[in-house]
Amino acid sequence: MRIDVVTIFPEYLAPLDVSLVGKACAKGLIDVHLHQLRDWTYDVHKTVDDTPYGGGPGMVMKPEPWGLALDAVLERGASAAAPVPRMIVPTPSGRPFTQDLAVELADEPWLLFAPARYEGIDRRVLDEAATRMRVDEVSIGDYVLAGGEVAVLVMVEAVARLLPGVLGNAESHRDDSFAPGAMANLLEGPVYTKPAQWRGREVPPITVSGNHGAIARWRRDEALRRTAAHRPDLIARIDPAAVDKKDRATLAELGWIERDGRFQPTDAPVAD
Ligand code: ADE
Repeated sequence: MRIDVVTIFPEYLAPLDVSLVGKACAKGLIDVHLHQLRDWTYDVHKTVDDTPYGGGPGMVMKPEPWGLALDAVLERGASAAAPVPRMIVPTPSGRPFTQDLAVELADEPWLLFAPARYEGIDRRVLDEAATRMRVDEVSIGDYVLAGGEVAVLVMVEAVARLLPGVLGNAESHRDDSFAPGAMANLLEGPVYTKPAQWRGREVPPITVSGNHGAIARWRRDEALRRTAAHRPDLIARIDPAAVDKKDRATLAELGWIERDGRFQPTDAPVAD
């Protein structure tokens, strides 16, 4: 996968050289290209922003440098296999970044990230880019960062670990929270390793029982427990057809019962 990032802070993306993503780059599984947006400015101050039309606080990123940067990146990166990239613009007003979107992006041969600073990029840049490639505005959560660079790091890491050959153990993301399959919509429960005794605390005996069926059941109950505690919205999204009798019993213990085709808190008002 080829990844281009156009930013006024390429140094902010230095962590891409480290750990899992760094190793994936070293192995040639990811080919990262960082670009300094100011290289496409032609005034002495290398200006990338200006005051917003219509007034208001903050500054807006000017269209000209972005337009030239995107032209250059598209020309340099084009190949027969990937003639144009999919462009991702991190912004708190974008669609949510989810595991499903990470899986979708992991299938793309070429991603182009355009993280903004200030109040964002002049809208015409995105509108014009959308005539040439798919453009998605994406938010990594309901909070406002100082710029999109950290969001790029988040998205690249989530996507990179899904690429074949990046994780040592291909099974490693099977049980991830949010992964599709039996644990879809459930958060991962607690994990333990050696020693079995630490500061007077023992690991749950089931984890060292060797009984794989019972361990799988325990993991699922722990996942249900954690999800009910931290993300009740996810319990409400569980498909009742996808749960077994024991799931139902655990959910009932946690205060969730099936009503009107979905799980609801036992104390939820009954609809008429
Ligand atoms: N830029 C600023 N805040 C952001 C967020 N929450 N997600 C993506 N990009 C952002």
